[in-house]
Amino acid sequence: MIIKEKLAARAVNVEDFLKDCLRGRNVPARLLESMEYSLLAGGKRLRPVLALSWCSLLGGDADRAMPFAASLECIHTYSLIHDDLPAMDDDDLRRGRPSNHKQFDEATAILAGDGLLTEAFTLMCESGLKQGLDAERVLRAVGVLAVAAGAGGMVGGQTVDMEFTGRTDVPLDDLRAMHAMKTGALITAACECGAILSGAGEDDVTNAREFGRAIGVAFQIVDDVLDIVGDEATLGKPVGSDVEQGKTTYPSLLGLERSRELAAAHVNDAVARLHGYEGEECVFLEALARYIVDRAC
Ligand code: IPE
Ligand code: IPE
Ligand code: MG
Ligand code: MG
Ligand code: MG
Repeated sequence: MIIKEKLAARAVNVEDFLKDCLRGRNVPARLLESMEYSLLAGGKRLRPVLALSWCSLLGGDADRAMPFAASLECIHTYSLIHDDLPAMDDDDLRRGRPSNHKQFDEATAILAGDGLLTEAFTLMCESGLKQGLDAERVLRAVGVLAVAAGAGGMVGGQTVDMEFTGRTDVPLDDLRAMHAMKTGALITAACECGAILSGAGEDDVTNAREFGRAIGVAFQIVDDVLDIVGDEATLGKPVGSDVEQGKTTYPSLLGLERSRELAAAHVNDAVARLHGYEGEECVFLEALARYIVDRAC
């Protein structure tokens, strides 16, 4: 099986969990519809799969970490709903369907995002209580994810992205820092939280974190490249959005070829963090890291 199929097979398990997670929560009907519209619209499920895979690699029980993995997808999906809003990237297509605010309305889209963000913390608490995970590990993992999703992580990165929009003089180091925050932080946290929940030692947690840091930056570089060379039907989101909005991206500063080279170099750094591990999960994580630069969506 090629890595794309392996990722899709693991994504099915995550989706099965996501299908039920909002049920029985007393959510008003239209809000529930809107939250599930985006959450269950497909997507690669990269972040939950990374968390589960790092947990397994380090000898943890991935099944018990599933609610935690699902919480990563809730936070990610919320970030996409808000990212598409007219006040931000103003994009009308997401995961192959009209963006949430197009299908519903802006107020509902904002609230669906708020609901998904908060739901993530419900799921993380439940994963500790219901799955019988060690309380200290859960608390630490929740803290890592909260910091990554928050104002010093993804939200902060999105703010810097907006500040850089329309500028042509952004230094490369600042762009790298912005990528690391807006996209890298959540991907890094996914890997780190999987390692923490496995109960592994600090060296392993560091390897997971640094692996995530490297693929996180590569992931956003390739996202920026695909915004230029990708196919809208395959991506399920608009092509050319970054140029239209005047975004500062790796291709806008360095060109396509140099951007691809940099992404590949970051992936090599990530793979170096897998040295010393072995087995099926290790092979999977290396292939997943390499897939990030080869992907078409
Ligand atoms: C898109 O993320 C937004 C970025 C952070 C670059 P993904 O490419 O993981 O989107 P889905 O989840 O597969 O739709
Ligand atoms: C988004 O970056 C990062 C997020 C935190 C959602 P982009 O704005 O490039 O993501 P896409 O291309 O719309 O998915
Ligand atoms: Mg954006
Ligand atoms: Mg966008
Ligand atoms: Mg993009």
